[in-house]
Amino acid sequence: MLQSLEIELTKTKKQQPPAEQLGFGNYYTDHMFIMNYEDGKGWNTPRIVPYQPIVLDPAAKVFHYGQTIFEGLKAYKTDDGRVLLFRPHKNIQRMNRSNERLSVPELIIDDAIEALKQLLAVDQNWIPTAPGTSLYIRPFIIATQPQLGVAPSTHYQFIIIMSPVGAYYTEGVNPVKIFVESEYVRSVKGGVGEAKTAGNYAAGLKAQEIAKEKGYSQVLWLDGVHRKYIEEVGSMNVFFKINGIVHTPALNGSILDGVTRNSIIQLLNHWNITVEERPITIEELYEANRKGELEEAFGTGTAAVISPIGELNWQGEVLVINEGRTGELSKKLYDTLTGIQMGKIADPFGWMV
Ligand code: COI
Repeated sequence: MLQSLEIELTKTKKQQPPAEQLGFGNYYTDHMFIMNYEDGKGWNTPRIVPYQPIVLDPAAKVFHYGQTIFEGLKAYKTDDGRVLLFRPHKNIQRMNRSNERLSVPELIIDDAIEALKQLLAVDQNWIPTAPGTSLYIRPFIIATQPQLGVAPSTHYQFIIIMSPVGAYYTEGVNPVKIFVESEYVRSVKGGVGEAKTAGNYAAGLKAQEIAKEKGYSQVLWLDGVHRKYIEEVGSMNVFFKINGIVHTPALNGSILDGVTRNSIIQLLNHWNITVEERPITIEELYEANRKGELEEAFGTGTAAVISPIGELNWQGEVLVINEGRTGELSKKLYDTLTGIQMGKIADPFGWMV
């Protein structure tokens, strides 16, 4: 179906911002991809057009019932000019799992990958190359049927936009401070916590705002039932190095199945470092720290890559990790992963496309 892709190039190219001004998600490339879906017709009319506002009926279901899915992945340009995508199939497969949960029609994986490649080919001069920068790609689907009954939409749009980015956190690769949330919850088993859908992020904003006022970058979510098992940070999965072993919360239906999380587990296994995926309580983390066994903590995500955690605050009890400094393992993981992504280190896993 992508054979019928139409490409309309912009007549007015935008000025590209300097690398040090990028931040995260502030600038967009010259073009975007759009494809429509209608019941009975499937996905149709794929096109690349100049980046522009989209016009929707105010009754479109996405505005009222939040039927929407998104993904995040990155592209890099190597020193010899090759354009690389990091594990794009993983993102599109996850998008289809999110689609399934939100009653959105599934994408044809090869078509979605081809759409990414075609859009990247058109805007490849937007891929920044300064250290720590990349082109963040945001594919998303919105329910566009203008109808207020609570039911899955009959019409959708699949859109891809791209943004040259620097570090997600203003701290860069320096440790972030995280507030452990005890009042609000993000998700429960059987909910949509595993899906990459807007509502999960909207539901987290209040807690994040309060944490920010207290001087913390983000919140660490605990499970919604017992309020004691560690789940994930607002935009990252989490890992803890305790006594030489790396622990991360097991995927339990309410945690996002992160592509970076999966890649870090594979890298650690490759280095013969034991990784335990299991339920982890916040009490045991504080206990490990009291015994001097908590060596490092870090978050992982596409946007943040690896973000060391220097401090946690749980009900007023402050836990400083590794004296608030970036741990050796976090640094090695960051250097190796970004090295593979930028084509500077050989990719033993076949991740780069
Ligand atoms: C990503 O890491 O791609 C995410 O989706 C986090 C984000 C919501 C900025």
